[in-house]
Amino acid sequence: MPTIQWFPGHMAKARREVSEKLKFVDIVFELIDARLPLSSRNPMLDQIVQQKSRLILLNKSDLADPNQTNLWVNYFREAGHHVLALTAKDDKSVKQIVPASKKVLAEKIARDQEKGIKPRAIRAMVLGIPNVGKSTLLNHLAGKKIASTGNRPGVTKGQQWLRFGTQLELLDTPGILWPKFEDPEVGQRLALTGAIKDDLLHLDDLALYELEVFTRFYPEQLKERYKLTDENLTLELPELLLLIAEKRGFKDDYERASEMLILELRQGRLGRYTLDRFEELSE
Ligand code: G4P
Repeated sequence: MPTIQWFPGHMAKARREVSEKLKFVDIVFELIDARLPLSSRNPMLDQIVQQKSRLILLNKSDLADPNQTNLWVNYFREAGHHVLALTAKDDKSVKQIVPASKKVLAEKIARDQEKGIKPRAIRAMVLGIPNVGKSTLLNHLAGKKIASTGNRPGVTKGQQWLRFGTQLELLDTPGILWPKFEDPEVGQRLALTGAIKDDLLHLDDLALYELEVFTRFYPEQLKERYKLTDENLTLELPELLLLIAEKRGFKDDYERASEMLILELRQGRLGRYTLDRFEELSE
């Protein structure tokens, strides 16, 4: 788990680096975690990206609740964005990116055509907070006949372009931005998925939060994993945690049970889930 410390100086530097690279691309791929479509976004992204064309990629959609992902995809579309639900680990899923990018840039491509400008590969960069899958996406694109195209004048020294087929070129280093860490609820959600290591959060608080989400939204998944009854789920959450500890043979070791619950969630043993709930938007 990466532990990047974000101080004002680092944030300004990250922002500067992204702004610098933006000049050389046609489109930005904003990667967010489909389980956290709001919490895993950078709070200043609109200001940083400004008018540059953007494709939002709801990554790790294989881990997220598909009903929630559909709602979030529609939400972003209605807000005027282009968006794709993605699994960066899956080549078939990654292949959707080129046609989706062409759609985003359709007007520009048509304009160039009218002017008689020869079509060229779309130039893109990947952008997102730590752990949303930026390197995974680049690697999966790179796995497919990618050739480094060498330095291009003007781009930061050492910066390379990676070519995906003939139609897409990517900057080989992603833009890394910071999450909305000043909001404690966002911090809790990011920590539960394993996106950040938050030493201020106690494991038992995280585990109780996990139980709150699963008893409310995914009770069947919780019952199945820990062999619980409907009645068990009516217990107060700390009691439920103790019951799970007991069932696992941890007696009353709250800490150990909390650790196990969080680990199993992160390993995907509790099934698919989404922590940023679409319905919270209208609350
Ligand atoms: P970053 O560059 O944005 O920091 O993220 P990175 O690609 O390192 O991905 C962070 C973790 O998320 C990795 O897991 C990676 O495998 C996983 N991941 C990325 N995209 C997907 C996806 O679409 N679906 C799933 N299920 N996982 C994804 P890790 O446990 O840190 O590493 P590893 O065990 O894969 O080596």
